[in-house]
Amino acid sequence: MPIKALVFDAYGTLFDVQSVAAATEAAFPGDGATITQIWRLKQLEYTWLRALMDQYEDFWTVTTESLEFTLRTLGLTTTPEFLVEIAGAYDALALYPEARAALEGLASYRLAIYSNGSPAMLKHLVTQAGIGEFLETVISVDEIGVYKPDPRGYAHVEKRLGLARDEILFVSSNGFDIAGAKAHGFAVARIERVPAATLRAELGAAGTIDPKLMFKALRMQPEQLGFHADTTIAALTDLVSYAASRNQIGPSGSLP
Ligand code: LAC
Repeated sequence: MPIKALVFDAYGTLFDVQSVAAATEAAFPGDGATITQIWRLKQLEYTWLRALMDQYEDFWTVTTESLEFTLRTLGLTTTPEFLVEIAGAYDALALYPEARAALEGLASYRLAIYSNGSPAMLKHLVTQAGIGEFLETVISVDEIGVYKPDPRGYAHVEKRLGLARDEILFVSSNGFDIAGAKAHGFAVARIERVPAATLRAELGAAGTIDPKLMFKALRMQPEQLGFHADTTIAALTDLVSYAASRNQIGPSGSLP
């Protein structure tokens, strides 16, 4: 079946989670890099724990609780108000530089987001990045109350779009999300935000694993779960030719 819709993961795929580093460093000078990495690792861990515990709370709760864990772990004190202010950095993430051009280039497809983010968080992100005009819809796990990579979430995406699973190309940089979407049966494009060779060069140069490298090593490489992306691309804009080649559109844009 030809691809009719591209569905994007949000955090790490369209939006750069590392961009919270400015806010964490401003709040706690000298500790920003460590906070940023532990926070993101814990944030995801809490989604999986809550899913296993059957204790869903939305991603804003998960984001503030994981920040609280991080600050306590590092022995940093804060007030509830300041904690919420820092957590707000997740509502103001930078859009990856090539994302707008990619969405523009894919305008002939139906485009959507499927994300762990709460509806309010995703609305903030889409609005501040000014990409709402490209998206048909934004789908949050909040609609089903269970985090990625629960298969019910990917099935919900199909239902929301009224498409068969093989009409959807799912796009993510997150290993667990790629494995989950692939296990469900979507075609999957892996956006390689941290190329393996770059990571190994950085690891070699560092001699030791610093917190940011640890994140890249644990979260930005393909999971070895037996479910792999159909393609690995360097930038979102590469989706334009990949989606066309899957649908065998000729170089002139004509259908075969
Ligand atoms: C999301 C997580 C995977 O956007 O970051 O759903």
